Amino acid sequence: MQPENTLYKPGLVVTTQERETVFALRSRVFVEEQKVPAEEEFDADDLSAVHFLIRTEPPTEEYPLGIVGTARLLNYSAGIGKIGRVAVERDVRGFGVGLKLMEFIEVHAKENGYRRLILDSQVYAMPFYTRLGYVAEGETFMDANIPHRRMTKNL
Ligand SMILES: CC(C)(COP(=O)(O)OP(=O)(O)OC[C@H]1O[C@@H](n2cnc3c(N)ncnc32)[C@H](O)[C@@H]1OP(=O)(O)O)[C@@H](O)C(=O)NCCC(=O)NCCS
Repeated sequence: MQPENTLYKPGLVVTTQERETVFALRSRVFVEEQKVPAEEEFDADDLSAVHFLIRTEPPTEEYPLGIVGTARLLNYSAGIGKIGRVAVERDVRGFGVGLKLMEFIEVHAKENGYRRLILDSQVYAMPFYTRLGYVAEGETFMDANIPHRRMTKNL
């Protein structure tokens, strides 16, 4: 549980230590919690993606670097970016961390010339993205044994 005066600051993953920390976070959330096979969770897109983090200020004993959330942005096609691997530590969910991280990614994407963002939302998480203005399209499909739906937003 986060104290009420905790600040959350989004940013880019820059250092090797930050990269290792967000990958470990993804492993906890997707591989351990959601049972996604590790070989599917980490893929070649990680090499070309821009990786984001969000940290608590001040850091806590549990999260010494303060990093409690992450996501990545891929160049999907001209002017279109694809957001993925959005994950917030389990005990920090519901405090607006994911929302703040997504808003930061959208600003970054717009500043870097993207006009449209797409993502494949787990069906259970769709209200989170709807809240941010993403609109569902197409049919539900399975990925890593989890039902997903494509969602898009024009920037
Ligand atoms: C989905 C996830 C990133 C949301 O992060 P979060 O920090 O808990 O979300 P926030 O607290 O910023 O929530 C923002 C809004 O979305 C809503 N929301 C968040 N998760 C939701 C969910 N699963 N179902 C319905 N609404 C949800 C919140 O109620 C909040 O709305 P409000 O501001 O009107 O109250 C987080 O739950 C998570 O990491 N889940 C596990 C990994 C995962 O499934 N990632 C998505 C892959 S597509």
